[in-house]
Amino acid sequence: MSSVETPAGPAAELLDVDLERVVAGLPKVSLHCHLIGSGEAETIVDLARKHDVVLDGGRTAEDLFDHAGYEDLDEFLRVLDVAGSVIRDVDDFHRVAYESLTRGGAAHNVLYREIFLSPPGHPGVPYRTILDGVRAGMRDAEADTGIRSNLIVGLNRNDSAAAASELVDIVIENRVDEVLGIGLDYSEAIGPPEKFWKAFRRAGEAGLNRTAHSESGPPHHIETILDLLGCSRVDHGYHVVDDPDITRRCVEERVPFTCTPVSSDIGRYSGSGDGTHLRIKQMIDAGLVVTIDSDDPPMFGTDPTHDFRVLARALGYGLDQLAALTMNGVEATWLDAADKAALAARARTMIGALEPGAQGLR
Ligand code: HPA
Ligand code: ZN
Repeated sequence: MSSVETPAGPAAELLDVDLERVVAGLPKVSLHCHLIGSGEAETIVDLARKHDVVLDGGRTAEDLFDHAGYEDLDEFLRVLDVAGSVIRDVDDFHRVAYESLTRGGAAHNVLYREIFLSPPGHPGVPYRTILDGVRAGMRDAEADTGIRSNLIVGLNRNDSAAAASELVDIVIENRVDEVLGIGLDYSEAIGPPEKFWKAFRRAGEAGLNRTAHSESGPPHHIETILDLLGCSRVDHGYHVVDDPDITRRCVEERVPFTCTPVSSDIGRYSGSGDGTHLRIKQMIDAGLVVTIDSDDPPMFGTDPTHDFRVLARALGYGLDQLAALTMNGVEATWLDAADKAALAARARTMIGALEPGAQGLR
């Protein structure tokens, strides 16, 4: 699993114990997590029962998310749509958001999350219903655990450009403080970024932040995302390292990339599918602003701690490197300067408490 040589025997165990302490205790900033994809299998099965739906030919919580069995992105997205189709009413959205932020967030020391919503993934559900349930879940999660959160509305690139523009109109007509911006996901091969320039222009004119996925596309998609769509972040973006000029530009402009080690390894976007996370390593080594998150955690058998764990093991990282990834996340948020500074201070305090000499002081 690990490409890094580690000593065998008691020394290795000690290393693992220390790694566990660090990855569990590390404060985390979550900028790439999809609401539908963070629904726990038991919850999705429960909601299907509640709405009298037979899930995908009778799947149970045990076999709903067979992450080793997604043939390709289309198969994964099909299962994602199955899950989204049973999240329907205000209570459902409350439950999924709350569980994602508490058990799937605060329990892993996620201090702050910008959650991707996918309105087209809930056919027939009014946008207001989604907002009402999710915002209530966010408020309750913050009251119970302290986790803070905001929202990104994901446009579905499998849909038409007109449908994406209509969704942006709905977002603008139903403006709430928590919705900080828009994103673009689903299949990059079907919907290249330039197809959505009008929707993104309209969002920009309305003062919304913008980001877009590029997991498999060529490096020039990154330029399109930045220059035509006006994005201030890139989700995944692994192929940036295939073009030294675009890489240099992104380093200079400190463009953040939200990388997701486990899901991208399973999807073979980060290069290998062999656990080496090669492209993420190349991005970090090139000096890019890389942040780490877990994408669709239960669907890929991961969680926020585990994504840091596999990356740390594969790249031989310790506290300093992992803390730098968290601080990149703070920088990459769409929070205003005061909130960002407060988040940075909280994260630094928690990182300080993880320093080897700090234990005795607790
Ligand atoms: N890839 C593309 N779109 C998505 C994903 C993903 O892994 N998860 C949710 N939307
Ligand atoms: Zn994603």
